Amino acid sequence: MNLEDHFDETIARDQRIEPRDWMPDGYRRTMVRQVAQHAHSEIIGMQPEGDWITRAPSLRRKAILLAKVQDEAGHGLYLYSAAETLGADRDDLTERLIEGRQKYSSIFNYPTLTFADVGVIGWLVDGAAICNQVPLCRSSYGPYARAMIRICKEESFHQRQGYELLMTMMSGTQAQRNMVQDATNRWWWPSLMMFGPPDAQSTNTAQSMAWKIKRHTNDELRQRFVDMSVPQAEKLGVTLPDPDLKWNAERGHHDFGQIDWEHFKEVVSGNGPCNEIRLTRRRQAHEDGQWVRDAAAAYAAKQQREAVA
Ligand code: 3HC
Repeated sequence: MNLEDHFDETIARDQRIEPRDWMPDGYRRTMVRQVAQHAHSEIIGMQPEGDWITRAPSLRRKAILLAKVQDEAGHGLYLYSAAETLGADRDDLTERLIEGRQKYSSIFNYPTLTFADVGVIGWLVDGAAICNQVPLCRSSYGPYARAMIRICKEESFHQRQGYELLMTMMSGTQAQRNMVQDATNRWWWPSLMMFGPPDAQSTNTAQSMAWKIKRHTNDELRQRFVDMSVPQAEKLGVTLPDPDLKWNAERGHHDFGQIDWEHFKEVVSGNGPCNEIRLTRRRQAHEDGQWVRDAAAAYAAKQQREAVA
């Protein structure tokens, strides 16, 4: 059996492709693309909530938020390691992000205006992440799937802490309830966009499904997220900002309104509310960390010299 047939048969048998296995160049390319952009999203995703660490309303909230933001950093580093198993270079990936040559999730290009945003990000954004990432635990590329298993466990904590924060605010003052509704209004539609363009406009889904990188299409996961969120919003006591949202007994799913894909394209092209500040901060953090990289390289070189001496 030739290498390509062996690869195809491994995929067909729902088995994992491992770093040392032969794989089509296209499979490697799209895996690096998806894993790198996923990693970039985790790292950039630290910024919106990170803005509230110094302004958390209590020590408890600060500790929870710190833990969550640190988790996101870990997810990013985990995923860069998965990308490296495909031959990608971490420095190169960082340059691509900073120079805008690789994407990160559109969802992180919005401002966090009140502390309720921290709760809504946990509830909706991490909730959407769970919908998207649980199937990726069965992705055909071994290191990615295994990274997802660990990451999903932490995402569940992220979603629960956000929802609990909102439940607390919703039992508070009217002003706090208004903050939660306002944040829900601002984050609902961008959360639906997180799942990617409609299947008909998705350039990668067909091939990614054939290679079992993705296990569901963008629209399937978006629908699953909407169906999951509606009862949660009812329990919370907030209204989702979509007058067309209603249960369709025939479909067994909720119908929902038109998504503004032109806005999505604008945000993905770099013209969202916070794209500029997100990349500027990431660039600055990278430059500020140059001395650490130089010191680590100098130490490694010294170790190397002593090892051969
Ligand atoms: N933001 C930015 N770009 C997006 C996007 C989004 N929300 N959705 C799609 N795109 C891009 C794609 O990257 C692709 O561009 P490319 O070919 O240059 O990479 C183009 O739009 C067409 O989209 P496709 O549907 O064809 O692309 P994919 O098949 O890759 O599907 C995806 C997009 C569903 C995001 C898929 O890549 C995926 O599942 N990625 C893994 C999960 C992920 O990256 N999540 C990002 C959020 S991180 C997060 O949730 C962390 C948590 O802690 C909050």
